[in-house]
Amino acid sequence: MKGIVLAGGSGSRLYPVTKVYSKQLTLIYDKPLIYYPLSVLMLAGIREILIISDKQTVPLYKKLFDDGSHLGLKVKYAVQKAPNGIAEAFIIGEKFIGKDSVTLILGDNIFYGSLEFLYKGISSNSGATIFGYQVRDPQRYGIVEFNNEGRAISIEEKPKTPKSQFAVPGIYIYNNEVVRIAKSLKPSARGELEITDVNKEYLNRGNLQVEKIGRGIAWLDTGTPEALLKASNFFGLIEERQGLKVACLEEIAYYKKFIDKKKFTKLISEMPNSVYRDYLNNLLKMDIH
Ligand code: DAU
Repeated sequence: MKGIVLAGGSGSRLYPVTKVYSKQLTLIYDKPLIYYPLSVLMLAGIREILIISDKQTVPLYKKLFDDGSHLGLKVKYAVQKAPNGIAEAFIIGEKFIGKDSVTLILGDNIFYGSLEFLYKGISSNSGATIFGYQVRDPQRYGIVEFNNEGRAISIEEKPKTPKSQFAVPGIYIYNNEVVRIAKSLKPSARGELEITDVNKEYLNRGNLQVEKIGRGIAWLDTGTPEALLKASNFFGLIEERQGLKVACLEEIAYYKKFIDKKKFTKLISEMPNSVYRDYLNNLLKMDIH
């Protein structure tokens, strides 16, 4: 299973900061936004990861993650020339995906809580597996409609009159067919290759699994300054209460045994003095993993 983090886009709603860098680099409490979706892929055991962004931002991600080897990952990068749609990720990533299946996560999507839904989705996927999450404002998302047996029967992108309250979060699991499907898409009215059209194609083929994610999981919005502030407060509260960090990539790499103790120690020793370094040092001392 390969992983793609799609982390481009115009980010116009966060102007002016997006004049200089991408939205996915903004701080959510104590670390850049992209750490959160990346940590989700890592927790799912995905170690070969492609980060897609615009030309200006790819070098910044490279600075952050390099080739990923310090985290026991293989990280590659690709440029999306313009925000032509989420489904373009599979065309850009064709070579990277090769003959594998792939999980795509949007670089601005945050999930917090038990990731059992994802682990199950990955291990049982045959065609496409996506998820449904109840939201108050369904007009803003891809919306899935279920029949009485709980099977998905329709998906619509940002419907004016939504047929349900279940939004499709930005994490999608596909078999290798997704590349061919993405290549066959026509741009939508807003000029994008829509991920919803990919999902509709799987639905038409009878090969789409949609699993509901329970309310115990937080799927947080990061679209506006208010949403970013709320997400920061949320993780600040959790981290302060537990004394544990969320989406700390080094900790996850060590915990998942992607890196051994020697590599972990070296990684910490190369960090500047910071709360982040103190935290990791503490883990090492307690040897809790
Ligand atoms: O967050 C979940 C929603 O994401 C889904 O429910 C929708 O079905 C899906 O279309 C998408 O809707 P958004 O309106 O939130 O998509 P947006 O254009 O904001 O893009 C989401 C992220 O992907 C954003 O961080 C920018 C990035 N992106 C987007 C596009 C269209 C790219 O990197 N390249 C792109 O071409």
